[in-house]
Amino acid sequence: MVSFFCVLFSFFFLCSHVSSADTISADFTLSGDQTIFSSGGTFKMGFFQPGTSSNFYIGMWYQQLSKQTVVWVANRDKPVSDKSTSVLKISDGNLVLLEGNNQTPVWSTGLNSSSARQAVLLDDGNLVLRDDSGSVLWQSFDHPGDTWLPGAKIRYDKRTKKSQRLTSWTSIEDPSPGLFSLELDESTAYKILWNGSTEYWSSGPWNNQSKLFDSVPEMRLNYIFNYSFFSNATESYFTYSMYNTQNISRLVMDVSGQIRQSTWLNNNNQWNLFWSQPRQRCQVYSYCGSFGICNDKSLPFCQCPQGFRPKSQKDWDVQDYSAGCVRKTELQCSRGVINQFLPLTNVKLPDNLEVWGITTFTICGSTCLGNCSCMAYAHDESSNRCLMWTKDVLNLRQLEEDYSEGNTLYLRLSASDMPSSSSSGKSNKAMIFGAVLGSLGALALVLLAVIIMLRYCRRKRMRAEKSDGTL
Ligand SMILES: *[C@@H]1O[C@H](CO)[C@@H](O)[C@H](O)[C@H]1NC(C)=O
Ligand SMILES: *[C@@H]1O[C@H](CO)[C@@H](O)[C@H](O)[C@H]1NC(C)=O
Ligand SMILES: *[C@@H]1O[C@H](CO)[C@@H](O)[C@H](O)[C@H]1NC(C)=O
Ligand SMILES: *[C@@H]1O[C@H](CO)[C@@H](O)[C@H](O)[C@H]1NC(C)=O
Ligand SMILES: *[C@@H]1O[C@H](CO)[C@@H](O)[C@H](O)[C@H]1NC(C)=O
Ligand SMILES: *[C@@H]1O[C@H](CO)[C@@H](O)[C@H](O)[C@H]1NC(C)=O
Ligand SMILES: *[C@@H]1O[C@H](CO)[C@@H](O)[C@H](O)[C@H]1NC(C)=O
Repeated sequence: MVSFFCVLFSFFFLCSHVSSADTISADFTLSGDQTIFSSGGTFKMGFFQPGTSSNFYIGMWYQQLSKQTVVWVANRDKPVSDKSTSVLKISDGNLVLLEGNNQTPVWSTGLNSSSARQAVLLDDGNLVLRDDSGSVLWQSFDHPGDTWLPGAKIRYDKRTKKSQRLTSWTSIEDPSPGLFSLELDESTAYKILWNGSTEYWSSGPWNNQSKLFDSVPEMRLNYIFNYSFFSNATESYFTYSMYNTQNISRLVMDVSGQIRQSTWLNNNNQWNLFWSQPRQRCQVYSYCGSFGICNDKSLPFCQCPQGFRPKSQKDWDVQDYSAGCVRKTELQCSRGVINQFLPLTNVKLPDNLEVWGITTFTICGSTCLGNCSCMAYAHDESSNRCLMWTKDVLNLRQLEEDYSEGNTLYLRLSASDMPSSSSSGKSNKAMIFGAVLGSLGALALVLLAVIIMLRYCRRKRMRAEKSDGTL
């Protein structure tokens, strides 16, 4: 009898404990090491630190996985430095994050005249803000970070002509919005953009007959995801769910600029890459940043040209190349300072170019040299077009040896940074050597000629003297 009551008591205790543990309300605020759990125990929310960063963020991650995998961050670009004095709570109808003894506002759900009373973490990873009647006033699924969870939607709003966006982190230790984003466009295609505007991958439009995106035929082979596309007069969106709800999967707009669908493998305790696009790193726009050279056939994928070094070696070491390369010697362009051009052979020409005009290779080169804002030039042999780059050179790709579309880009460098042992250096030396040899040879010839002439003259004079004598 006693044990029965014990069991009953602990059951109620557990129940009430569990049911309140997923909610932030007037009765419960979140601070320090406290966390809330979704009712089914899938997700957990609280303060976390990405990698070795000293910053704290409010984030959401899988509760059961051995490797902390953050799927959503509230204060992405506004970290707090002390979690014990920071608090996440409901205030004036919003969920807000306050920091320090002054309770400075850091982040808020930002609703006007809202009557929200509680924030509940649901088992699909959606954090919802509800009023007393239970209506949802705000949800984290409408404010995605870098992760698209099953059940979430990335919508295109046909009235405002705007899409929701999945945005990469800046680096693996910095969740602030990075350069890469995924969004849905009017034509029902998802596309990946660099810096909010330059498109470098598209899924192709949704195909209503074959139930897949035109440029993603591999969707046909799928047996674990339930895909669907919705469209009416006001909005359209794609969404997916798992046929087997035990399977854990997520799609991430990765810091590499690729979208990656990964599935958790229980046996190995790790994420397994299921699918990613674009396939090759170098297809990601400006993957190696300004002046960086991308090569899919070498590791690391990014290199700095001669005379350049990584702008941030620290980022470069953790495979974040987006900051690109900077000159070892600052370029000077005044009288008496010598600039030269480093030839980069067999590259795909960067696209932010200007066509200067139709001219010869030599004039193209000397025109670029004469204009301090010209960073690089290339000459198109077939059309005689002179191409110039006056801004940072982005999206430079090294092509394979036998790729016929390759071009040579001539990159402006301070003469002191020019390679001395490269082939161009060698040929310079050879030319100088040749010139010296040549002039020595000419001098010798002239001397020889003079000697011969002198001898000839002397002999002639002697002969003349001899004949004088005989006469
Ligand atoms: C809230 O109100 C402010 C000013 O009253 C306005 O600028 C802002 O756009 C409003 N925000 C929303 C989400 O309606
Ligand atoms: C991204 O675009 C903005 C203008 O929209 C520009 O100011 C910024 O420099 C760009 N970022 C990079 C890395 O080029
Ligand atoms: C797809 O086809 C269905 C009928 O089969 C139609 O109701 C729907 O509007 C179509 N959607 C698009 C995006 O064309
Ligand atoms: C697939 O998803 C659609 C829409 O979300 C849903 O109506 C349908 O029941 C799902 N099918 C299965 C087999 O789970
Ligand atoms: C389109 O669908 C959404 C729900 O997905 C709904 O809120 C909206 O009212 C619909 N628009 C029209 C014009 O039916
Ligand atoms: C999905 O879950 C089932 C049962 O837990 C497992 O056997 C299967 O390997 C999982 N599939 C994937 C792709 O993880
Ligand atoms: C250098 O080139 C830029 C871009 O083509 C042009 O706007 C500028 O006038 C040029 N300057 C000189 C001195 O020719």
